[in-house]
Amino acid sequence: MRQTADMEPEPKPTSAARTSLSRIMTSLDVNLLGTVHGGVVMKLVDDVAGAVAQRHSGGPAVTAAVDGMTFLEPVRVGDLVHAHAQVNWAGRTSMEVGVRVVAEPWDQAGVPPKHVATAYLVFVAVKPDGSPREVPPVVAETESDQRRGREARIRRRSRLASRQEIMASRESRVD
Ligand SMILES: CC(C)(COP(=O)(O)OP(=O)(O)OC[C@H]1O[C@@H](n2cnc3c(N)ncnc32)[C@H](O)[C@@H]1OP(=O)(O)O)[C@@H](O)C(=O)NCCC(=O)NCCS
Repeated sequence: MRQTADMEPEPKPTSAARTSLSRIMTSLDVNLLGTVHGGVVMKLVDDVAGAVAQRHSGGPAVTAAVDGMTFLEPVRVGDLVHAHAQVNWAGRTSMEVGVRVVAEPWDQAGVPPKHVATAYLVFVAVKPDGSPREVPPVVAETESDQRRGREARIRRRSRLASRQEIMASRESRVD
């Protein structure tokens, strides 16, 4: 059904926006130690999460926050890196997108991909003037989706609480 200005967006299942991006790491991606620079992985994470947010919200969405970016294992030149992402939770105009990054070592054919990084990003869907617009509720399809939704709500509460606490501490401070 078409979405109009006075109608709420229709709920969408997690599978509707789930997206993966893959890339082979090259010698242009390395840090001074010779392993892959964290920023290269972060760019892949932001790209795949942005695609998910755009698919879920049906239009442009901007990165509002990145947290829980965890690097678990080094990535090497030649590794085939996959970033898998989906919407974990949707609010009124914002969404949390979870990203799992895995790497297939270039020199070990047939071994299971290694889990190398995880991240949680908040995207806000925007109108052409940059102001926030409503996003569809997300429908969890599996028990894992439900768990991700529960955990996303915990992260949302802690993000908002720490932001409020910091704002209050700035207001109460007399410099
Ligand atoms: C993201 C942005 C559109 C939010 O605009 P805003 O006027 O602060 O919007 P609001 O206060 O109405 O918040 C909108 C939603 O975003 C959420 N939000 C805003 N900032 C957030 C933050 N730092 N962390 C988590 N959620 C945030 C709000 O909770 C709200 O969610 P809800 O509607 O689901 O309840 C605005 O800050 C912006 O344009 N930022 C720059 C984004 C950008 O350029 N990204 C690329 C980086 S290079």
